Amino acid sequence: MAKLIMLLLLLALCNILVSAQVKFYIDCGSVLGNTDAYGNIWQGDLLIMSNGVSQSVQSSNADSDPILDTLRVFTSGNNKNCYNFVANKGERVLVRASFNYGNYDGKSSPPTFDLQFDGNFWTTVETSNDKVVTHEVTYVVKRDVISVCVAQTKSGQFPFISALELLSMDSDIYSSADSNYALLLKSRVAYGADAIIRLPTDYDRIWTPAILGRGQINFTDDSLNFAVQDLPLEVLQNAVTTASTSDNLILASGFPSNVVSVYISMYFSEPTEVTEKRSFVIYVDNQDESVSNIVPPYNDVEHQTGTVDVSSNSTLSLVATTDSALPPLINAMELFYVSKDQVTNGTHADDLEALALLQTAYPVLQDYSDPCLPATFTWDWVECSNDATPRVTALHLVGGYLTGSLPDLSSMVGLKTIDLHNNSFTGVVPDYYGTLPNLKELNLADNKLSGSIPTSISKNKNIKLNVTGNSDLCTSGKCDDATTTSNTDTPGFPTLPGSPSTGKKKKKTPLILGTTIPSGLLVSAFVSFLAWVHHKRKKTSVASMHNAASGLGEAVMDEIEVNIENQVVDEASHVINQHS
Ligand SMILES: *[C@@H]1O[C@H](CO)[C@@H](O)[C@H](O)[C@H]1NC(C)=O
Ligand SMILES: *[C@@H]1O[C@H](CO)[C@@H](O)[C@H](O)[C@H]1NC(C)=O
Ligand SMILES: *[C@@H]1O[C@H](CO)[C@@H](O)[C@H](O)[C@H]1NC(C)=O
Ligand SMILES: *[C@@H]1O[C@H](CO)[C@@H](O)[C@H](O)[C@H]1NC(C)=O
Ligand SMILES: *[C@@H]1O[C@H](CO)[C@@H](O)[C@H](O)[C@H]1NC(C)=O
Repeated sequence: MAKLIMLLLLLALCNILVSAQVKFYIDCGSVLGNTDAYGNIWQGDLLIMSNGVSQSVQSSNADSDPILDTLRVFTSGNNKNCYNFVANKGERVLVRASFNYGNYDGKSSPPTFDLQFDGNFWTTVETSNDKVVTHEVTYVVKRDVISVCVAQTKSGQFPFISALELLSMDSDIYSSADSNYALLLKSRVAYGADAIIRLPTDYDRIWTPAILGRGQINFTDDSLNFAVQDLPLEVLQNAVTTASTSDNLILASGFPSNVVSVYISMYFSEPTEVTEKRSFVIYVDNQDESVSNIVPPYNDVEHQTGTVDVSSNSTLSLVATTDSALPPLINAMELFYVSKDQVTNGTHADDLEALALLQTAYPVLQDYSDPCLPATFTWDWVECSNDATPRVTALHLVGGYLTGSLPDLSSMVGLKTIDLHNNSFTGVVPDYYGTLPNLKELNLADNKLSGSIPTSISKNKNIKLNVTGNSDLCTSGKCDDATTTSNTDTPGFPTLPGSPSTGKKKKKTPLILGTTIPSGLLVSAFVSFLAWVHHKRKKTSVASMHNAASGLGEAVMDEIEVNIENQVVDEASHVINQHS
């Protein structure tokens, strides 16, 4: 049964994979959202994030847009606070996070904290009194969910976030880069442009004008007209060159002191028709790194990409070849740091499946970030192994008023500790708990369990069992076997606290992953869904579930399901109209 449900979840997901485009603009700390100068519509985060509090900056930077005037700060001391989004496994995405301190707390003390995506360390964010700090990463998504988390690393320094953008990219856009690694943007330059170039047709990448160095000259020709893949023509209409062939064109320096790998993507296009020869090569640290001489074509573009190792003394420059009559020239360049580690595959899939089922049954537990990663930032109620693909080693769901039969944890073979004491679990103790190969401690004390202890557990000397405080459980002597069979058919499907046992149709869709939601409608469906989850997650401890379980749960869940269904219908008719 459990396996079947999971299969359905995955199948439903496949439908999403085909068509969905990730496109989220989140105006953190804002209720209503906003529209930016480029026409992008931003939504507030009130409905998708109930942790933290919203704040407004005190000093608005002259150049900052209203999106950056609000922020959400997390003072709760949670391990990590995550924004979660439905994603397409295997797709390349761009994620941009912005941080505008703006002295919101009046302390003139901009904090430092960690930024994470999908269980990976992304970067350390060092916020500033007077500057907006933005980090951008592009990577190939390994799961069906994207989570972007901020995490406190220094005492008294509370993480915050001002804006978050997620966009699908064509999977072949940085195809010469190793797709197992993330690319962290260092710079994206439109040489010779006099303003930022930012177009929705260009995945909303932000091309900034170069600050011209001494002896550098800019060109413009907006009559150019040719088809170019993966780049707006606007970015190629300008170029920068030097005054003479003996001047090298220095493109980048100022790398970190340790050796890092950078991925470079450069575009060369002759802005005007020239009769003289222009030919040059790419130098990294006085070494010619070009495969062949670069001769920029007129009314066309040459694209060069590569990955090189650099450090603090490194410079990246263009150097004219001896037979060149004209100095080197460049139109556009993107420079990325390649992540030190591969993008993680995340916690073991078997554990994720079992946890997903548990979370389906207990929405209050829902969290789409990786349970175990990054290593020191696990969920509060699990412990994990240190493996590259971690296993969950302990579950601590204590004092939570969890009801129904005990959850199916049979696939969580890494478990050493299962601590479910002080809940309201009913039914029998499942046989397979005793066959979990690593189980050392099973604490089921203070529940409402019945039947007898399976011999797989009672005869297993490795397991320290605690079942005190279960008055109907037969722990010794002769047990009445009639009661032991009552619940064995439906392990792992606890009923929701407060849900009626008969009459009403069982709701199966608290988990967004399990519902077939068409593309484009993911935002609102997911938003309304998470609104509910987070509403119930005011406190992180499982103990807070008591409040969450009272009445409200059912009602809101119904409402969400209706929303999703309506949207499915709308989308379906929309598709039909298009086809007819
Ligand atoms: C490029 O040159 C034009 C005039 O030739 C100038 O107006 C513009 O500011 C220059 N752009 C940059 C980025 O220096
Ligand atoms: C950078 O250059 C300085 C001075 O030339 C030298 O002392 C230092 O070792 C160099 N660093 C690296 C990483 O090569
Ligand atoms: C992720 O899984 C793939 C396929 O199983 C494997 O090739 C790759 O090495 C794994 N990556 C990491 C970081 O473990
Ligand atoms: C059991 O959990 C409830 C609710 O969190 C708590 O009030 C109570 O003190 C707990 N009992 C024990 C014995 O821990
Ligand atoms: C069983 O667990 C309960 C709750 O954690 C604890 O109070 C009790 O001392 C434990 N009993 C034994 C024998 O370990």
